[in-house]
Parts: sequence; structure tokens; C-alpha cells
Amino acid sequence: MLTVTVTETVRETDAVKVFRLARSDGVALAPYPAGAHIDVTGPTGITRPYSLCGPPDDTGSYTIAVKREEKSRGGSQALHDKVEPGTELTIGEPRQLFGIAPIAAEHHLVGAGIGITPLLAMAYELHRLGAEFRLHYVARSRDEAAFAGLLENSAFADRVDFHFGRGRETVARELAGELAELPADAHVYTCGPQGFMEQVAVLATRAVPADQVHSELFQAGEQPDAAPCEIFEVELDTGEVYTVPPGKSIADVLEENGVPLDTSCREGICGTCVLRVIEGEPDHRDHCLSAKEKAAGDQIAACVSRSRSPRLVVELW
Ligand code: FES
Repeated sequence: MLTVTVTETVRETDAVKVFRLARSDGVALAPYPAGAHIDVTGPTGITRPYSLCGPPDDTGSYTIAVKREEKSRGGSQALHDKVEPGTELTIGEPRQLFGIAPIAAEHHLVGAGIGITPLLAMAYELHRLGAEFRLHYVARSRDEAAFAGLLENSAFADRVDFHFGRGRETVARELAGELAELPADAHVYTCGPQGFMEQVAVLATRAVPADQVHSELFQAGEQPDAAPCEIFEVELDTGEVYTVPPGKSIADVLEENGVPLDTSCREGICGTCVLRVIEGEPDHRDHCLSAKEKAAGDQIAACVSRSRSPRLVVELW
């Protein structure tokens, strides 16, 4: 964890505020891969993951954009209301669960709303690399579109397609037309509400294989209806066995028993709590593991996922 100072805040839209963070000790920050996020602990002690959305090679500051969520448990509201230039915050190291494919004929970035943030960092990086890319940005209106002015005046403005205020069906038609033309070795990256990303994935996979479509869930979606609450055991690779009752997560039980486990979002988004599964069948309820990783069954997000077998044997990383 690192202590940083807020050097600047900018109100991008009525709901989105941008924060620039620099190390409080004046040392340069670590560079990060485009698409990475950091955990930010706000003034109320709530930790949330936020995508880094500045140029990834800028080691002078990290930039995050925070949408004020009226239904949040206080994380975004506290950042909006209580944080100003000079405030110190605690952040984690950049972590990457969503990144640019090293080899692709073209890259297509498709974002909606606050989902623009990781894609903005990717656009900076693809432009720096001289790669072939387009950024498709969907928002209800230009006034509600964070970074619209920055993108219009960016060095890669000619690569940005704005889909503002067009309505759902028109946007779907526009994206269908653009994604239908992709070469088979293009990669597509999407971030936004879950339904939007699912729609982009359906459209993109008409032209490219599914493993070339990359999604980042920006907010926790609805959890699937809970299966009948089963009791199961979790066994550590060191031999201790604990019972996980209905209504408690593996992470809850390990913490209650003094087993050290890093967690952040506790909503299955960030991947901080992922453990290796040695034996047993996980019941995946997270949004951070890919479909391929879930099918492999050798990892589990301990904060939300459960078990389909009576015992899960896990290894603490
Ligand atoms: S703590 Fe974020 S996925 Fe579990």
C-alpha cells in the first residue's frame, strides 16, 4: 500500500470527478500496463478498485475518474464529498485484469459511460505504439460523457467515434455495422454496464473468435440467485479445515479464523482474493475470472464464490 496526495480534482460531468494522485514522498510512481486498476481507500476507510485513465507512461501522477453512485455504500460519495487537493489517500499497486493483446491486426475499444476509463488508458498506449485502433464511446449525452472534450482534442481524435444521445437501438445498429467489418485477427475490448458488454460481445463474435473479445465489468452486476445454501468445508494446503456456513463467504470464514487473506471489493470484481483450488469444484459467482479460468476450475474468488463439492482444498498464494 502507498500513501498518495491528491494534487488536482476536476469535475468532468455532474456525476464524474477526476482525481490526480502523486506519491506523498515525491518519488515517481510505478508505470503500469494500460487497462490496469488500483485499489483506493477513501476517507471513510472503504476500498474500491478504479481504473487508471491517464497516459500509462506518466509516472508523475495516476489519474482516476470516480462516478458518484447514489446507491453506493459510501465509497464514491466520500471521494466526491470529502476529498480535495492536499487530501492523502492510500492506494494499492496497479493490477491488471484487462489489457491490450500483444499481437492484433486492429484494436477496437468499445466503452459506455464511466467504462471509458480503462479504454482511455489503452487509447493513449495504442497511439504511443503507433497501433491500428478505434475507440467507440457511447453515452446518454455529451454532457454526461466524461473526457469528451479531452478526446475531441486528443492526438488520436480522428480515431474516436462518439455515439452520444442516439438511443439504444441506434447505437446497437451503429456498433453492429462497425464491428461486422472487423478482420478475423482484430481484438475487441469493452467496458461498461454488463448488458452493454454482452451486446458488444455478441456483435463482435460475429467477426472474431470469442477469446479475442475482452470485457471488464466496471460495477458488480446482480449476483445470481443463491443456490440453496449448502454448507461446505474449505481445507487449506497447510491442513486446517473450516466450515463455510450459509450466508458467509470463504473470505469471511478465513478471516474469522485469523487466516491472512487480501480482499478489496468483496464483490467478485477485483480479483484480490483469488485463491488456487487444488481439489474440489468451485461454484463461481464472481466477475473477475474469465470464462476459460472458470471452466478450468483451479481458481476461486473467496469473497463471493462457493463450492459444488463438500470440500474445497485451496492454496493461499
Ligand atoms: S475481494 Fe475483489 S474479487 Fe474478492
